[in-house]
Amino acid sequence: MKGSQSADISLAPAVYVETYGCQMNVADSQLVMGILRRAGYQRVEQPDQADVILLNTCAIREHAEERVLGRLSDLARLRNRRPELKLGLLGCMAQHDRQTLLQKAPYLDLVAGPDTYARLPQMLRQANFDPIVDVRLNRDETYAGVVPEHEPNAVRAYVTVMRGCDEFCAFCVVPYVRGRERSAAPDAVIDEVQALARRGVKEIVLLGQTVNAYRHGETGFAELLRMVCAVDGIERVRFTSPHPRFMSSAVIDAIASEPKVQPYLHLPVQSGSDRVLQTMARGYRVGEYRALVERLRAAIPELALSTDIIVGFHGENDDDFEATLELLREVSFDSAFIFKYSLRENTKAYRLGDTVSETEKGERLATAIALQERISLLCNQRLVGRDFPVLIEGEARRGNGMLSGKTPQFKTAVFPASDGLGPGDTVLVRVESVTSHSLRGAPAKAPLQAGSAPEVRRPTGEMPTV
Ligand code: SAH
Ligand code: SF4
Ligand code: F3S
Repeated sequence: MKGSQSADISLAPAVYVETYGCQMNVADSQLVMGILRRAGYQRVEQPDQADVILLNTCAIREHAEERVLGRLSDLARLRNRRPELKLGLLGCMAQHDRQTLLQKAPYLDLVAGPDTYARLPQMLRQANFDPIVDVRLNRDETYAGVVPEHEPNAVRAYVTVMRGCDEFCAFCVVPYVRGRERSAAPDAVIDEVQALARRGVKEIVLLGQTVNAYRHGETGFAELLRMVCAVDGIERVRFTSPHPRFMSSAVIDAIASEPKVQPYLHLPVQSGSDRVLQTMARGYRVGEYRALVERLRAAIPELALSTDIIVGFHGENDDDFEATLELLREVSFDSAFIFKYSLRENTKAYRLGDTVSETEKGERLATAIALQERISLLCNQRLVGRDFPVLIEGEARRGNGMLSGKTPQFKTAVFPASDGLGPGDTVLVRVESVTSHSLRGAPAKAPLQAGSAPEVRRPTGEMPTV
């Protein structure tokens, strides 16, 4: 019934986009929607209303790919009722599995890599009999001039400032599936941020796989951060993910001195063992990472930190794993995303193979997560009784008359709703109780003046992962 309703509203073909993977993919889906809207498509929220279904996929771990293949075969059944339905696969998996995808998922009409989205309208027109596959990478593509379709009424928006990656960490598919690193022109970034500010967006998250390596002509990441902070109406600025290797003094100074840049960094370390880091080709030693954390904490009061860890990488022995646990204890990250190593074809580490059994990886994962849960809880318990400016995003997930938003340190805070408070307002919240993942409290005072919020800097964290 819903399908026929949407057809009544408009004759524009309906497209449904489902997104997997990191924030870069979330931002890319908005870009894809912007491109398709301009070509006359409309967006629908349910696959059974769609003329075109697009899955924007991730290839970072094998598990991510398996999920998508399962989902695709479910969606293909919608063809029984809608024979004209087109099914497309976009993103990193399109690039990574380009040779085998059409065998694994013969019902696909379209396979499009991350640098081909400008050609999507044309590809969709052509995908009538034989599937269209376009996975050409383009080292210049930054989608300049495309207006992404950001979420309506959102308080926070993602802005992609660089695409691709040149780091080639031994475990990682990103440089192969996203191609060479390239940065968007600063004026294009600022135009987009200004447009978002005019729509009432309060918080900007700048995105890139090594976002602090951003460079366009004379403009480096520190300058870009300052330019974004200068946009009126934007109250909070964040970015993800910075790479430890590119955390220059200029970038640290910009974070420390720009009040709008929030005191929270997601700084992936991957392992606490030098031996493992070297095989991973991460380009730093544990001691350098530790020293960087010290510099950051000294420069940025009340900084919250999170990280990514891989357990069970090639050659990781008990001592290496213990070193990772030790680093977690020592740094006391507010949160950590911990993954089992997944051997990926085409990467440098592929030919090295797996040396840690699946069972051992599972045990290490469980041990590391349990430790981090205790650490995260301890970090949050220290916040009880303190006040934080919370930028309200909307009703709390469980409703109950509660609102939710983020502290400067990107912790989720939940508190009772009161008259006159809504999304986009910043309110001072006193923390009353905590879990390892969120804070619960009550408004401490009247809403703060816009712009005054970011100057209060206190510890906390939970994190996005690019
Ligand atoms: N560019 C970011 C990481 C992006 S990928 C950075 O280098 O900081 C997000 C995370 O996925 C990585 O930090 C890593 O912890 C994890 N990851 C990447 N490849 C993986 C693999 N083959 N197996 C398991 N985890 C992986
Ligand atoms: Fe690039 Fe990050 Fe992957 Fe390393 S882990 S290759 S920096 S995306
Ligand atoms: Fe996945 Fe691609 Fe992001 S591989 S993590 S969606 S860049």
